[in-house]
Amino acid sequence: MVIRRLNQNDEIVPMSLLLLADPSEEMIRGYLNKGECFVAEVENKIVGVCVLSPISSESTEIVNVAVSENYQGKGIGKQLVLHAIQTARFLGFKTIEIGTGNSSIGQLALYQKCGFQIECIDKDYFIKNYPEEIYENGIQCRDMIRLKQEL
Ligand code: COA
Repeated sequence: MVIRRLNQNDEIVPMSLLLLADPSEEMIRGYLNKGECFVAEVENKIVGVCVLSPISSESTEIVNVAVSENYQGKGIGKQLVLHAIQTARFLGFKTIEIGTGNSSIGQLALYQKCGFQIECIDKDYFIKNYPEEIYENGIQCRDMIRLKQEL
């Protein structure tokens, strides 16, 4: 498995993968414009994606991370997150952030295993910003849990 930066000028972005993590193509196009997109490849096939987008000169955010369903649970998501952390450090950012839903139990586990700590909760974020109700693990996704780590 290799992780490399996608050249957004010459290459097609893996939209179906990005949509696994974020249902809004409009939001995705917005942060792709500002950020850098990294892809994980197995035998020259894109199986994972991660987007890093700056919040300020000091802080950047993993705004999307997704792994193709057939390749989930094999450590690729963790490697993408760890790669994004290293990249942010290399680029000189002081902190890195990530947000996920209160119902995203596996993601909350993954991010904490990668060194993130819960910073704050944006209450009712998903209720206010998404037209349809979202359920995961039998829990309604209401709040955005914001996690952060010093680099
Ligand atoms: N409890 C404890 N640990 C859990 C867990 C749970 N319920 N669910 C996952 N984990 C852990 C795994 O054990 C693993 O840790 P380990 O390496 O210490 O064993 C880690 O989280 C993730 O494993 P990995 O195989 O790297 O994850 P992945 O390749 O399946 O990628 C996602 C993770 C989230 C990117 C992937 O599932 C995905 O694309 N989901 C759909 C899109 C999405 O939800 N993106 C995030 C939006 S916030």
